[in-house]
Order: sequence, then C-alpha cells, then structure tokens
Amino acid sequence: MKTSSYPDAHNADVPRHVAIIMDGNGRWAKRRLMPRVAGHRKGVETLRGVIRACAERDISHLTVFAFSSENWRRPQEEVTLLMELFMRALENEVAKLHENGIRFRVIGDLSAFSERIQALIRDAQTLTRHNTRLTFTVAANYGGRWDVVQAVRTLLATGVTAEQIDEEALTRHLSMAGEPEPDLFIRTGGEQRISNFLLWQLAYTELYFTDVLWPDFDAKQLDAAIASYRSRERRFGRTSEQVQKAS
Ligand code: IPE
Ligand code: IPE
Ligand code: MG
Repeated sequence: MKTSSYPDAHNADVPRHVAIIMDGNGRWAKRRLMPRVAGHRKGVETLRGVIRACAERDISHLTVFAFSSENWRRPQEEVTLLMELFMRALENEVAKLHENGIRFRVIGDLSAFSERIQALIRDAQTLTRHNTRLTFTVAANYGGRWDVVQAVRTLLATGVTAEQIDEEALTRHLSMAGEPEPDLFIRTGGEQRISNFLLWQLAYTELYFTDVLWPDFDAKQLDAAIASYRSRERRFGRTSEQVQKAS
C-alpha cells in the first residue's frame, strides 16, 4: 500500500519552492497618503529584489500571487491600473528575466485578460522555457478552487474512469503540474489566511506570516522567513523520533 503521497518531501536548509502572497500594497500607500496604485508600483520593485534574492539563495522555484480571481471585485479604476501595471511589467521585465536565466510562467484563467496581455505572456513563456536557474511563476486571475475544477474537467476529458482518478492523476492536471510543492509559504501584510491561493499544493507547506507590508519586504525579511523555515520539523504525519532517525 502506498503510505505517502508526498514523494517530494523536502527537508533541506533552503526551501526549494517559495510561494508568496504579496499583500499590503494598499496600506503601504495609504500610510503615505498616496494612491493605492503607488503601493502596487513599489510592490513591483520589491518583487524584482525578491526574485534576485531567491536566485542568489539557490531557491529553484518562486511563485507569487499577483491577482486573485476575487480581485476583480475591486473598484474598476484599481483593476484597470493593476492590468496596466501587469502589462508594463511584462513589456519591461521579461528580457531581464531571460538574461538572468529565469524561466517565467503565468498560471490562472488567462482568458479574462486582454489579447495583448495574453500574447505577452505566451511570448515570455516561450522565450524563457529552457532556462533553469529559477522558475518564477506569477499567479494571475488565479484561484485555488478554480485550479482544482479545471484539473477535474481536463482529467475527465481524457476519458478516465472513476477508478483511475487518484491524487497523482489530478495533480498532473493542475496548473503547477510537474513543479515541486511549495516548501515555504510567506504572506506579508499581517493577514493570516490563504485567500484561495494554491489550496491543493499547500497541504504540507510551512506557513510564515509577517506584518511587514509587501513594499517593505526585502532580502533581510526573506532570510528571516527562511530562518523560521529551518527551525521547523517537517514530519509529514510521522513522529519526531521517526524523522530524526531517518535524517
Ligand atoms: C496586494 O496588496 C496586491 C493585490 C491584491 C493586487 P493589496 O492591494 O491587497 O493591499 P492591502 O491589503 O489593501 O493593503
Ligand atoms: C490576496 O490578497 C491576493 C493577492 C495578493 C494577489 P487580497 O488582499 O486580495 O486578500 P484578501 O481579500 O484580504 O483575503
Ligand atoms: Mg490585501
């Protein structure tokens, strides 16, 4: 009998895959009496630094939540400005990512985005697909529940029988198929919730919450999160004694 569905269980000092909810841009701006979009702009700068810091620390996968399927509920003006910012970032940043050996991916229901954004995403993914230094994934119009539903749909479309559906089969059709599950999850901005991010993949991820607002997050903050991660014992259901014996 198969006793574990976590073959990727990862215990090394440095997390292989870090997933981040970049929250707190609006509050950062509000504190400075600036419009919310100023916080989002600063957030893009922060992200640039965090990508670099992850690559320097030999983290092989970084996944960030940029826009949730629920964020369409924000005022129209903010949604429009966020889309513009996303488009500018795609236009201006992808070449640099490629130069630095970074593989770029976007997950989410992309059909809701403009043709222009969809084309930029396709081109960026094609350009960077063979890069191996860091896989950088942006979740945009992403929802964890949407992901599970689309995986079930595509799996059923292959003609499987009910008996053939198991965790592995479903995992193969999720947006993050083929990538390791996140070892470390970070949420900035003080809220302690998942907000419909990678629901399936976070099953055994170490969770780290910080009050630091995303625009203020930097390499030092990242190191604090990694230090916390290192202090954890990942048991995956076993006892502490079993884990220590195996290591
Ligand atoms: C996160 O910052 C960015 C997005 C959700 C796009 P917020 O915009 O949620 O910032 P707060 O939570 O209002 O401070
Ligand atoms: C989560 O942040 C989504 C992103 C960071 C893109 P939100 O600010 O939208 O989350 P809630 O609504 O406070 O849960
Ligand atoms: Mg928020």
